[in-house]
Amino acid sequence: MNFYVMTLFPEMIMQGVSTSVTGRGMARGAISVEAVNIRDYTNEKHGHVDDAPYGGGAGMVMQAQPICDCYRALEKRILEGQQAEGREQKKPRVLYMTPQGRVFDQKLAEELAKEEDLILLCGHYEGVDERALEILQTENVSIGDYVLTGGELPAMVMIDCISRLVPGVLGKEESADIETFHDSLLEYPQYTRPEIYEGRRVPEILLSGHHANVEKWRREQSIARTLAFRPDLLPEANLNKKEQKYLESLLAEAEERKKECN
Ligand code: ADE
Repeated sequence: MNFYVMTLFPEMIMQGVSTSVTGRGMARGAISVEAVNIRDYTNEKHGHVDDAPYGGGAGMVMQAQPICDCYRALEKRILEGQQAEGREQKKPRVLYMTPQGRVFDQKLAEELAKEEDLILLCGHYEGVDERALEILQTENVSIGDYVLTGGELPAMVMIDCISRLVPGVLGKEESADIETFHDSLLEYPQYTRPEIYEGRRVPEILLSGHHANVEKWRREQSIARTLAFRPDLLPEANLNKKEQKYLESLLAEAEERKKECN
């Protein structure tokens, strides 16, 4: 899978993705990341890429021309690359990083991980000239309800999250599907050596070697954690009858406790 990031800070992106798991995925050829400098495409003689907003107001707005020219050159290169590799020619999706967008979640990550090429557009300053977004037909994506200074960190968050779903990025032992949000449940607690740390023991069941009991305990822990911290996820969870009963028993216990407090 190939990520193309349109940005004014290409070195920030490349430094961010070149380490750890994404860096390894790049070295293995499972993913590629290319940061394209929007500034390289400006027609302005001083290299400016932004200007004051029409109608007044604070800050600067990124101009449409360098963004559109950067995009057109990139799109042409991507389509040619697809052809050269004998792949079906497909206009890549263009994701614009903005707090006004659809909130990025695991479901969207899974959907995007199926793409071969993705373009991520990073804005800065007070935003991007709306006409550029119309011309590029961007899909707006937010990483959460808070405002950052630019789209680079959101782009890196998305690349990290999507990459680990691409075959060949995670090692054999590092499965992408028995973790938090898989099945809309939070992850169960993990323990490693030593068996006792500052007087705290590893739960006995994990030392039992009884695989089925360990699995059952882990599922129950996931359900209990999800109920405690993210109950909004539970309606989406795929619980079998026994697990549903377990959830009901937790809810009944909570109800009991509430009554005792009153
Ligand atoms: N740019 C600034 N804040 C952002 C956010 N929360 N998500 C995506 N892009 C952004």
